[in-house]
Amino acid sequence: GTTLGASAAESGRYFGTAVAANKLSDSTYVGILNREFNSVTPENEMKWDATEPSQNNFTFGNADRIVNHARANGMRVRGHALAWHSQQPGWAQSLSGSALRSAMVNHITRVATYYRGKIHSWDVVNEAFADGGSGARRDSNLQRTGNDWIEVAFRTARAADPDAKLCYNDYNTDGQNAKSNAVYAMVQDFKARGVPIDCVGFQSHFNPQSPVPSDYQANLQRFANLGVEVQITELDIEGSGQAQADNYGRVIRACLAVARCTGITVWGIRDSDSWRASGTPLLFDGSGNKKPAYTSTLNALNGG
Ligand code: G3I
Repeated sequence: GTTLGASAAESGRYFGTAVAANKLSDSTYVGILNREFNSVTPENEMKWDATEPSQNNFTFGNADRIVNHARANGMRVRGHALAWHSQQPGWAQSLSGSALRSAMVNHITRVATYYRGKIHSWDVVNEAFADGGSGARRDSNLQRTGNDWIEVAFRTARAADPDAKLCYNDYNTDGQNAKSNAVYAMVQDFKARGVPIDCVGFQSHFNPQSPVPSDYQANLQRFANLGVEVQITELDIEGSGQAQADNYGRVIRACLAVARCTGITVWGIRDSDSWRASGTPLLFDGSGNKKPAYTSTLNALNGG
């Protein structure tokens, strides 16, 4: 293939990017988006603060702009994210206990129902495990509603949109470590008990302090062996030139080597679109030119 999306499609995979609704009027941005990508993830527009700014008052305008653009251009949509400790509206941050649990269930039901049939994969729960060596759940208002909040979220999402793949998504789980071991144990438990889960998202935000792990492929494979899809959901790699290009190539080849690794999403198009304000972690420079990382990614998708 000659584009990222077409090349990924040759092995039945998608190649996506995070998209911001307010950039859909930027013709350089949209030109690259439409040429290269066949999946999109709204970067912020489907989060709780964006979709339910006051309780039971749902606003889908910015998310709809992205979903409509995607559907008009034959792209799939990853939904991100139904339940997360961060980017909650103020009213939810101030709730606890059964009131917060009910609000979470209502939120998932309403958002997943609204988008039923339009989402290929939902990040149902995002970033619920603690960093470091504890293997514990992250402390959060949602966690304090009871340890079963994650499975309740997944069962609620399944009921609302039976055809979407339901993912657990996290960072620093890309290699084998205490955090990924804890996620692994949860997925294993969910599969054993019939809690609906279809996929695990590996965010894959890499930088010199947190490089691509040497056991990245092995970690993806062990999750796949549990019977879930694995997806690379927020890929960006800090760096430049050939070193950055080589790291992108390693990530792409790892996914292609795992049969159940079904798609890759980069977390933005141009370096200037990245959440890393001063970084250059993406595939296109600020002017929209292809970087060496782009060429390496494309070559890897084509089996090189
Ligand atoms: O929209 C408001 C705007 O009205 C306001 O004037 C401005 C002033 O700060 O803020 C704007 O909101 C910002 C929003 O991005 C939209 O640009 C928030 O402050 C800012 O915190 C928010 O950052 C997002 C971040 O998640 C929040 O946690 C990033 O764009 C987004 O890339 C990032 O994405 C996360 C994934 O969801 C989960 N995994 C990690 C990843 C990177 O942090």
